[in-house]
Amino acid sequence: MNSQPGDRSLPSINEYYSATQLRSDRWSALREAAEGLSREGSEGRKGKKLLQTAEHLFDSLEVIEAYWAFPGASSFAHLRRLLNHANYDELLTAVRRVARALASGAYRRRTVPLSSDELDNEDYEDEAALSPEARALGRPYFEVLIVDDVSEQQERFLRHSLLRMRRSEDPFIYEPVVVPSIEDALIGILFNHNVQAVVVRPGLTLKSRNDLPILSRYLKRVGDPEDVEAIQPHEYGPEACRLIARVRPELDAYLITDRSAEDVAGLDLGICRRVFYNQEDFLELHLNILRGVNRRYKTPFFTALKEYSKQPTGVFHAMPISRGKSISRSHWIQDMGAFYGPNIFLAETSATSGGLDSLLEPRGPIKEAQDMAARAFGAKHTYFATNGTSTCNKIVTQAVVRPGDIVLVDRDCHKSHHYGMVLAGANVVYMDSYPLHQYSMYGAVPLTEIKHHLLKLKAAGKLDRVRMITLTNCTFDGLVYNVQRVMEECLAIKKDLVFLWDEAWFGFARFEPTYRQRTAMATANTLRQKLKEPETAAAWEAQQAKLADAGEEEWLNTRLVPPPDARVRVYATQSTHKTLTALRQGSMIHVNDQDFKGEVEQAFHEAFMTHTSTSPNYQIIASLDVGRRQVELEGFEFVQRQVESAMSIRRAVSTHPLLGKYFKVLTIADVVPETYRASESTHYYDPQQGWTDKWAMWAEDEFVLDPTRITLAVGGTGWDGDTFKTKILMDKYGIQINKTSRNSVLFMTNIGTTRSSVAYLIEVLVEIANELDELLDDASKMERRSFENRVAALVEHVPPLPDFSRFHDAFRADGDTPEGDIRTAYFLAYDEDNCDYLALDDTLMERLDSGEELVSTSFIIPYPPGFPILVPGQVISPEILKFMRALDVSEIHGYRADLGLRVFTKAALDDVLTKKS
Ligand SMILES: Cc1ncc(COP(=O)(O)O)c(C=O)c1O
Repeated sequence: MNSQPGDRSLPSINEYYSATQLRSDRWSALREAAEGLSREGSEGRKGKKLLQTAEHLFDSLEVIEAYWAFPGASSFAHLRRLLNHANYDELLTAVRRVARALASGAYRRRTVPLSSDELDNEDYEDEAALSPEARALGRPYFEVLIVDDVSEQQERFLRHSLLRMRRSEDPFIYEPVVVPSIEDALIGILFNHNVQAVVVRPGLTLKSRNDLPILSRYLKRVGDPEDVEAIQPHEYGPEACRLIARVRPELDAYLITDRSAEDVAGLDLGICRRVFYNQEDFLELHLNILRGVNRRYKTPFFTALKEYSKQPTGVFHAMPISRGKSISRSHWIQDMGAFYGPNIFLAETSATSGGLDSLLEPRGPIKEAQDMAARAFGAKHTYFATNGTSTCNKIVTQAVVRPGDIVLVDRDCHKSHHYGMVLAGANVVYMDSYPLHQYSMYGAVPLTEIKHHLLKLKAAGKLDRVRMITLTNCTFDGLVYNVQRVMEECLAIKKDLVFLWDEAWFGFARFEPTYRQRTAMATANTLRQKLKEPETAAAWEAQQAKLADAGEEEWLNTRLVPPPDARVRVYATQSTHKTLTALRQGSMIHVNDQDFKGEVEQAFHEAFMTHTSTSPNYQIIASLDVGRRQVELEGFEFVQRQVESAMSIRRAVSTHPLLGKYFKVLTIADVVPETYRASESTHYYDPQQGWTDKWAMWAEDEFVLDPTRITLAVGGTGWDGDTFKTKILMDKYGIQINKTSRNSVLFMTNIGTTRSSVAYLIEVLVEIANELDELLDDASKMERRSFENRVAALVEHVPPLPDFSRFHDAFRADGDTPEGDIRTAYFLAYDEDNCDYLALDDTLMERLDSGEELVSTSFIIPYPPGFPILVPGQVISPEILKFMRALDVSEIHGYRADLGLRVFTKAALDDVLTKKS
């Protein structure tokens, strides 16, 4: 059942990006149809139409509901009988209750009675309206997917047997859902976000009988469909466990088998936590299911902090706010106590004992919490930071890079990397991202640019000094690298290269399968496996023979294979607070480095000490612990919802007739040039072609766009990005965003974005467009011309973004390769006598044109775009100067308009050159 038979009152399935939205809208539509039937009956033209709609809705929901425990197959059949028997009033009561329980989440807390004979006192209860305390008292609910092709009667027996095991002391409550096949199991875990555990039983089959495209689409995400076809029946159980691990590794799987223990032992069972040889040991299964979920639910540090805050303690150290004492006794700051409530102060402590732990030397609950985070994020070690990813980047750089090491860095990376290079004394090779001149934005660094630099360093005999490469994934604007390809090809040139992936914006990516394949940690684990495979060694040897006499061009154009003895050395830094639940500055460093223990650990410890406060904030650490629990249990659901919201915005803006006049949502084709798009995908949503499935492009393209980051070109409104952000969105409509370019603003959806906030944003954009329409309707000729000039200035006359020029010779080892000693340049500027100030006027340009070398003493960072257009020691090029002069932003860090551009004196540079020679 994959389409609707001519019912024009309902949106077509193709209009839905997600089956979850489809499900919720279908229930609302069924409620409306039931209201109509109850009011009108099914006679007459209108009644017949209503009946037809209701029947169609039942058909389409039946397929969907097979994957959910509530309302469940038997209740659903009961509703259908009510329709068939024309019992419309009863039907209305039941459908209303189901729709309401689905929307409010009431089914998670109690049985929802469907018959009007039973009172549903809590009809109007909305889960979101309950106090946090009331919600925290309830037992969390989840669903267990049982995979077995059983008769209705056997299914009843299975469900009943598990439910009979419930005990009052169980920490959670769950409901089983039974599906027959591996394919259904995969659809189930991708569609039903309530599933936390899967029980794979011996009777399972392979194929799903369901051909609803919006659901079978999920199967594509698992990989090549032919792989699934090739599975032999005796392998179904183990294969189901392996496939589940590939898609949702955070879930628990239990395999019940009738094969012998010897047969099963030694098989790769993916995430399978236990194998049961006795089919009917329901108590063991029940206890294991609960224990498995509890393993993710546990929050060692948050729990310790809660416990600590309950203990009576006398405070005799320097922390008057501890236990709220300085507030409760105050006559003047009572409002602070009232605003925050008591717990935050009860939990304010600097104790490292009494059940707590030290972030600097964790051995107790912080260590445990970090280990759990490592498991959740696929790392070998995870470190919490209470000072943001700015600090994490400096820690990793200092830990890995020794003075004089060469580091490849994307020039438009976050400033913490540049400062990290100064601290570590790195010799920096700045790599250019591809520019998006039209929108005054950068893309990301093409792989050929990275390889080109590595090959040049190799040719110059400097490869042994190349230590690390730092890339931003994803970028602020949402460009995502092909992480595996980048690492493989770099390792093919330098087999022990260390990778620092700045995932400040990508913490959430681990919890959705499409995103996960492009994260640093998932890729590091894939690579570890791949390097061990004999095929890798064979492919490498064959390629080496072919490339023996190849020049740079051929190396650049070949997809390089890493040698089997390459080392996997990967670090990722994440601003947990930016994309997941954590208090501001809560960040994590994830390590997946085969040589960490032998080579880096001690230095890492020192670097951690250098940058971490001796008074780390415990609330932040606790929030990281809880944030980890959340993503392990509901990250998948929240990320899916976040993507759905973003897709709704993309669709709404690109289909609204008025919005297109002033705004444009940048498409994949707008931000990723064709040469980097092997899949040839151009849009996520196109009004003519509908949705593009993102799997293919995410599997193969060099760069993809994270759909949750929506860049809206606003040049057509005549306002620049910054004015649009502050004067219009913020001041007028209370909408907050934090990134703009000259002619665009960036909207980010996050795991808290709701359908109503999306609706509000669209409403606001429509209102702005309407107002502009009215304004232009009444405008005089002159006003209109002025508007058009403003638009042209923003859309057409955009100053081109300058490339990195080069370091001055005073800071370079030689002219062969571009690496520069940024630290020497940085500290040279500490002496005012070495510096001069030049006005940004025509004389400066004339001096450059006459060939004079002027060298910046400092980082010059305009906001936007927010990356340094000059770094210490960099030669100022005419292009950079032109760009600076064309910039009409008020905020340029490192530049004082009253003094001018700070450059090194010629004498200072000559002095460095002399000392070098
Ligand atoms: C790419 C990137 N890395 C690192 C950071 C710094 O992160 P934090 O704010 O957690 O210090 C940012 C901040 O915006 C960023 O955009």
